[in-house]
Amino acid sequence: MTSEQTPTASAATAPADPAPAATAPADPGSDENRPNVARMYDYYLGGSHNFGADRAAARQVLEIFPDTGVAAQTNRAFLRRAVRYAAEQGVRQFIDIGAGLPTQGSVHEIVQAVAPESRVVYVDYDEVAVAYARRLLGDAARTVVVRGDLRRPDELLAHPDVTASIDLTQPVAVLLVAVLHFVPDADDPYAAVARLRDATAPGSQLLLSHLTLDGAPPMPAQQGRAVYQRSSAPLTPRTRAEILRFFDGYDLAEPGLAWLADWRPDGEPRDRVSHGFGGVGVRR
Ligand SMILES: C[S@@+](CC[C@H](N)C(=O)[O-])C[C@H]1O[C@@H](n2cnc3c(N)ncnc32)[C@H](O)[C@@H]1O
Repeated sequence: MTSEQTPTASAATAPADPAPAATAPADPGSDENRPNVARMYDYYLGGSHNFGADRAAARQVLEIFPDTGVAAQTNRAFLRRAVRYAAEQGVRQFIDIGAGLPTQGSVHEIVQAVAPESRVVYVDYDEVAVAYARRLLGDAARTVVVRGDLRRPDELLAHPDVTASIDLTQPVAVLLVAVLHFVPDADDPYAAVARLRDATAPGSQLLLSHLTLDGAPPMPAQQGRAVYQRSSAPLTPRTRAEILRFFDGYDLAEPGLAWLADWRPDGEPRDRVSHGFGGVGVRR
């Protein structure tokens, strides 16, 4: 094993996840030799929960788009602001779908600083990400990690740990942050998002960010997509108009669907590198 193939120390000691339920999705994270999108994102953010194949692919992307790390930080900063906004609007339950690896400024830390009674369910379909998340979160109060697939929203919402934490008769914030661009049109992401909308009470919120290639030069865009084509989840960047359609049935909070760095900027450092659009919708 070369050093490139050696997982970081913390990855090597990751706990085994309990056997997935019979209905669990095929696991995108178990093959260490295949670049994995959750762990590539962890690498962009400076994390250590990644393997050699993840780092090699991420470095290729960084060669094509050197500001990818900054763009990942911009996405996380959007997530923090959007979550704080929802909590300040009075939402007390959160489902973070495609949560990835918990990193500094996690959803439960932010919302429980506003209202300690808030409940958070982290969901990811990647077995390795779920195992890390469970270990990193430990026994954090009113916080649970569930393995589930955005493409199967009914199954996800019926998971016993979800029904135990989330009361769907009350407003809930559904986070789909940097995840929908991993769901190709063939898997009908619009139907999945509409199902989540219909299952939640009026006043619920959709917190969404999505990669776009609007304005990106065609050749690097093509090269970047080619790297992800070999990963656990090929990319489907969408135009602003296509992303806006996910908010059907929601009223968009000001300033609407915006470049990530421009969505309600606060005192956080503004790096100004947005590779995506984000917004918060309130269910009618
Ligand atoms: C780029 S990370 C985003 C992490 C976090 N939401 C953020 O924005 O910081 C994308 C995550 O979505 C997960 N993912 C991709 N497709 C998914 C699906 N169909 N269902 C659940 N999770 C999915 C991946 O495993 C990965 O952890």
